Amino acid sequence: MTQPIASQADTSTTLHYTQRTHYCGELTPADNSQTVTVNGWVSVSRDLGGIVFVELRDRTGVIQLVADPQKNPSVHATLSALKNEDVLSATGPISLRPSETINPKLTTGEVEIYPTHVELISRAKTPPFLPENADEVDEALRLKYRYIDLRSPRMQENIILRHKIASAVRNYLNQNRFLEIETPILIKTTPEGARDYLVPSRVHAGKFFALPQSPQIFKQLLMVSGMDRYYQIARCFRDEDLRADRQPEFTQVDIEMSFVKQDDVIAMVEGLVKEMLAVAGITISLPLPRMTFAEAMSRYGSDKPDTRFGLELIDFTDIMAASEFNAFKSVAQSPGGIVKGLCLSNTENYSRKDYDDIKAMVEKWGAKGLAYIVFSNEGLKSPIVKFFTEDELAQIQARANAKEGDTIFFVADKQLKAESLLGRLRLHFGKAHNLIPHDQHHLHWVVDFPMFELTDEGTHSPYHHPFTSPNPDDVDYLKTEPSKARALAYDIVYNGEEIGGGSIRIHNRNVQHQIFQILGLSEEEIQQKFGFLLEAFDYGVPPHGGLALGLDRIVAMLCRTPSIRDVIAFPKTNQAVCLMTDAPAVATDDQLKELHIRVAVPPKAVPPESKPSA
Ligand code: AMO
Ligand code: AMP
Repeated sequence: MTQPIASQADTSTTLHYTQRTHYCGELTPADNSQTVTVNGWVSVSRDLGGIVFVELRDRTGVIQLVADPQKNPSVHATLSALKNEDVLSATGPISLRPSETINPKLTTGEVEIYPTHVELISRAKTPPFLPENADEVDEALRLKYRYIDLRSPRMQENIILRHKIASAVRNYLNQNRFLEIETPILIKTTPEGARDYLVPSRVHAGKFFALPQSPQIFKQLLMVSGMDRYYQIARCFRDEDLRADRQPEFTQVDIEMSFVKQDDVIAMVEGLVKEMLAVAGITISLPLPRMTFAEAMSRYGSDKPDTRFGLELIDFTDIMAASEFNAFKSVAQSPGGIVKGLCLSNTENYSRKDYDDIKAMVEKWGAKGLAYIVFSNEGLKSPIVKFFTEDELAQIQARANAKEGDTIFFVADKQLKAESLLGRLRLHFGKAHNLIPHDQHHLHWVVDFPMFELTDEGTHSPYHHPFTSPNPDDVDYLKTEPSKARALAYDIVYNGEEIGGGSIRIHNRNVQHQIFQILGLSEEEIQQKFGFLLEAFDYGVPPHGGLALGLDRIVAMLCRTPSIRDVIAFPKTNQAVCLMTDAPAVATDDQLKELHIRVAVPPKAVPPESKPSA
């Protein structure tokens, strides 16, 4: 019986091959005349008047192979028959390219190999796309064939940079006497505000492990254990709505330290971030500036302000409180109500429809309205000027420093809501008006966060997590008005992205218990969820604190890509599926039976349109 040609080729070529002496991308004129062997993938192959040129690619780059049918007919025959992505071994002397054929775009552009011997190691089917063209391909296709996508020079650079940054992290923390310690993945729960991923227990019917949203509780227990300084490049799992900067599993540089105050953690972490940025050639000077949460909200309308551009929020509350414009006056006079705005330049070309669209957008975000005053060359244009006196209009203009061509946008609401809406609008204008200088690196701390967020139902939820220590100056508020208490919590912000967050922890059993109560947990829930932690606090606890950096986000920023999917080897889509392996998948009846699980709703097929989106 005759074998199919492909499998004959496979068995005859794969088992023996000549192993590389050099990486493709590292050959230089210094290697001239040396005989080398390279192994790699066929990136480009061209036949120019009988002479065949092949670019062979490995992780380090490409090298050109040349075959002349006159000089070496058998090598020429093999190279002529190559297709993209075939795997090849080539042996031959390095020679300098004639000056007119030097390719300055390649690091190896001054040299080439005239192979004396080539072996086809593995044939490739025509790939769904070529790695070099991956950027032009739909992301869903890239994710389905991720192993081909990862061959692209851009993805290889990203993954290599990620590795270098992770190495720098380990070096820095090792030098600072941190211990790298692994914590479990099958756990009870560590609440970070997202939904848990659950894993059913086969051994204990009806019981579930949770995957950690972070190693938070374990790292605190390591401090109780006397480990003093801990770190881990830790995988975290959060079942939450996904975006370009969020994945269901992501990686933190997780840190915890004993016998420290806020300033100690901040100094250690900013030193670490400086090292991480240095890997990408970015130099920052320390200490980083700090801004309180209240100032960040008040000036930028965000707890992670992008300070690369101005367009700061302007407070008109006092002017509006004294005015006769009722929609604003009533808010400005109500407790906690404010009227703030933004003064945007270069709005000469805005049409009535543009203003309507902006208003509709902000209302979709939850605003009760959006008022504006246009300072045009024909005077003021606005649906609300009629409500103000000349003097009030002059005050508004002076407060905003508004000039011809500007528009002031106003929002009246409860303070945090009005500021958040304007913060979002500020970012929208920052992008739309190209106000953001993309070559700058602004890092700063946001400190003095509130302990709690008040929910719409009037309950308290932790602004960070329930283990965050209150500011000692504010402990009295815990009994009277918890929402006024500040936390010893700090976030690090890079160009408007939250790249890390942490806090000094509660190390006192009674304070921890009090916080659980404020969060509305019953005695039973406290015991059931966190009894072991409170118990540990009975056995000698050092004051401790720490932080976690979002490694994926930092690497993505340093790779200048907007999506963290571009720096994760095998990411999930925004629908939390892996397009390559088709996970999640249905379990067999036997598996379900062993796990004591009956599926109530038959699983739907993953919709084919389940594409990643920004
Ligand atoms: P936090 O929840 O702020 O803190 O997380 C720390 C950092 O992790 C990154 N991050 C994410 N990155 C990608 N995808 C996600 N879904 C995602 N969620 C968070 C962010 C964030 O700043 N245990 C505490 C830390 C501590 O208190 O020490 C924690 O997890 O960059
Ligand atoms: P009204 O008097 O409600 O018709 O509002 C007059 C203008 O003020 C409209 O352009 C509204 O969008 C705007 N407006 C009303 N309420 C608010 C608010 N809370 N914040 C900002 N603008 C508002």
